[in-house]
Amino acid sequence: MDDAFIEIASVSKSFGNVTAVDNISLSIRKGEFFSLLGPSGCGKTTLLRILGGFEALTDGKVMIEGQDITHMPAHLRPTNMVFQNYAIFPHLNVEQNVAYGLRQQKLSREEQAEKVSAALTMVQLEGFEKRGADEMSGGQKQRVALARALIKRPKVLLLDEPLGALDKKLREEMQIELRMLQQQVGITFVFVTHDQEEALTLSDRVAVMNEGRILQQAPPREIYERPISRKVADFIGQMNLLDGVVDSVSDKVVVSSVALGSVTVDANRQTVRPGDRVTLAVRPENLSLSNSPATGGLPVTLAASAFWGNTTYYRIIPEGAEGNTLDVSQQDYRGSKNSGDPAWLCFDSCDFLLLKD
Ligand SMILES: Nc1ncnc2c1ncn2[C@@H]1O[C@H](COP(=O)(O)OP(=O)(O)OP(=O)(O)O)[C@@H](O)[C@H]1O
Ligand SMILES: [Mg+2]
Repeated sequence: MDDAFIEIASVSKSFGNVTAVDNISLSIRKGEFFSLLGPSGCGKTTLLRILGGFEALTDGKVMIEGQDITHMPAHLRPTNMVFQNYAIFPHLNVEQNVAYGLRQQKLSREEQAEKVSAALTMVQLEGFEKRGADEMSGGQKQRVALARALIKRPKVLLLDEPLGALDKKLREEMQIELRMLQQQVGITFVFVTHDQEEALTLSDRVAVMNEGRILQQAPPREIYERPISRKVADFIGQMNLLDGVVDSVSDKVVVSSVALGSVTVDANRQTVRPGDRVTLAVRPENLSLSNSPATGGLPVTLAASAFWGNTTYYRIIPEGAEGNTLDVSQQDYRGSKNSGDPAWLCFDSCDFLLLKD
């Protein structure tokens, strides 16, 4: 990438015989909100700690603004980290906690108070200076941790699941605040989460990780709409994944599947040959049900339904394909909704994604 600000080149890290980070290369732009997303144990924290200088790497190179920082100690790096399970000191008040970030700078009392107050304003905690750390809610503590990390105005802020300890509603509020804060201060954020919704809502780009590797890095919409593999498709959002075999290839690909019979789809940048085993992926919101065969849908049987407020999910079994289920998300299905009832499945095959593995 020409405009790379952070460059991670072929970085690996092993702990004994566990390879936590396996030959990862990544470029992050200045001012970008970049997320590392993946299941527990996939190496997110390890990669972040390598960036922050808290973990020596086994192999590879890390550059920031063209400078090789691979062996630079943490306190000299232009980075600052908000740790997983926010670590604010319970015996210090808010002001002391935030000022802790300045301990290596020799500042006058006034300069320090000014910086603390500016940092607290950034996270909307003006007036909380003297409050004890244990007299704060989870969300407030999180903001103190953020203020402490921001006070030195690092070029890069590394955030390790900073909202993980908060309940859903507070987390959603803090997500919006975090994004606004990032846009306001213009600092590059590298954000770790295992929550895909969080990654998709907040980020400019997302890297999906699994077992120490990066499966795909792209803007959220591309990750959601064009996952490159079955693993990414399965991890991001709800997705129906159908096994199929390629029948024929011209400008389109004809795939035969047990679940839906023959489906003609776009090649989706994949090179396939007749006989190849492939996966067809389709989101529940791109399928719909009709209560009449007149729409030309495929006959199916309802297996279950679940009301989600803004939509209802229907699990269906295509006729003649017992053992294969698909999920349909639909707000306005008017047919009878009992398990065992017949319905007709409608779809447009241009909403199907062809995946090779
Ligand atoms: N200090 C260590 N010593 C030995 N193994 C470690 C150490 N730190 C991490 N690991 C191992 O490296 C792998 C990656 O761990 P890491 O903490 O980076 O995962 P993570 O993606 O942050 O997971 P989580 O979402 O649970 O925080 C795991 O298998 C973990 O057990
Ligand atoms: Mg972690």
